[in-house]
Amino acid sequence: MIELKTPGEIDAIDAAGTVVARILAAVRAKAAPGVSPRELDDLAADMIADAGAVSSFQGYHPGWAPVPYPGVTCISVNDAVVHGIPGPEPLTAGDLLSVDFAVHLDGWCADSAFSIVVGGDPDPRDLALIDATERALAAGIAAVRPGAKLGDVGHAIETIARRAGFGMLADHGGHGVGRSMHEAPHVPNEGRPGRGLRLKPGLVIAIEPMLIAGGTDDYRHDPDGWTLRTADGSRAAHAEHTVAVTKDGVRLLTRAA
Ligand code: MF3
Ligand code: CO
Repeated sequence: MIELKTPGEIDAIDAAGTVVARILAAVRAKAAPGVSPRELDDLAADMIADAGAVSSFQGYHPGWAPVPYPGVTCISVNDAVVHGIPGPEPLTAGDLLSVDFAVHLDGWCADSAFSIVVGGDPDPRDLALIDATERALAAGIAAVRPGAKLGDVGHAIETIARRAGFGMLADHGGHGVGRSMHEAPHVPNEGRPGRGLRLKPGLVIAIEPMLIAGGTDDYRHDPDGWTLRTADGSRAAHAEHTVAVTKDGVRLLTRAA
């Protein structure tokens, strides 16, 4: 069932989203060669506590996962697409990092992600992949308005990704978000214009394109049971925002105050 949110509830998700954006900005600023994903995760954990928020990730244990999720962030490096567990290995110059992060604040959740290359002299191919991922997210968000369909959103995302020649992680997409991190509806990164759920004011969704440089959509699970890696070993990028359908358009909820 899809639970539409009241304007007051959307304000509460926006407050959670502001915390998410602030912490992601700090993680982005700290990410550098020599710093480990685990140190970035520790920074996020400290900031969650300071904000009086609660991690939406830590302890999350969906049926398919062998163990509860151990971190407060997902940090997916290079050929890892999503759900990378932050490890102790220091980053090196040129690593492509995707950081995914959500918190609950006063019982409401917001979810966001970004990708960057650490160090100077990034590979232009990585920058092109990240750029297409961000453009796909922006196009998906731009398709959100009352009366539009979920298929319009997915179509906008896939058009950017496929035109750029990139793959899109199979079987994964965005989702409704609110009291829980994952709510109905599923928000596919593909679709047919004019098809699917009709968007109504009060719908809150996380939109999250996951693009693969090599052009495959295929992935495999790491032995850790969580990390998803590209099947062809090529690099991947991820970008995500939580947005609300409002009576006159779309409101971005995961942005700095
Ligand atoms: N934030 C991810 C998503 O966008 C979910 C991460 S689940 C976790 O849906 F357990 F790894 F945290
Ligand atoms: Co999400």
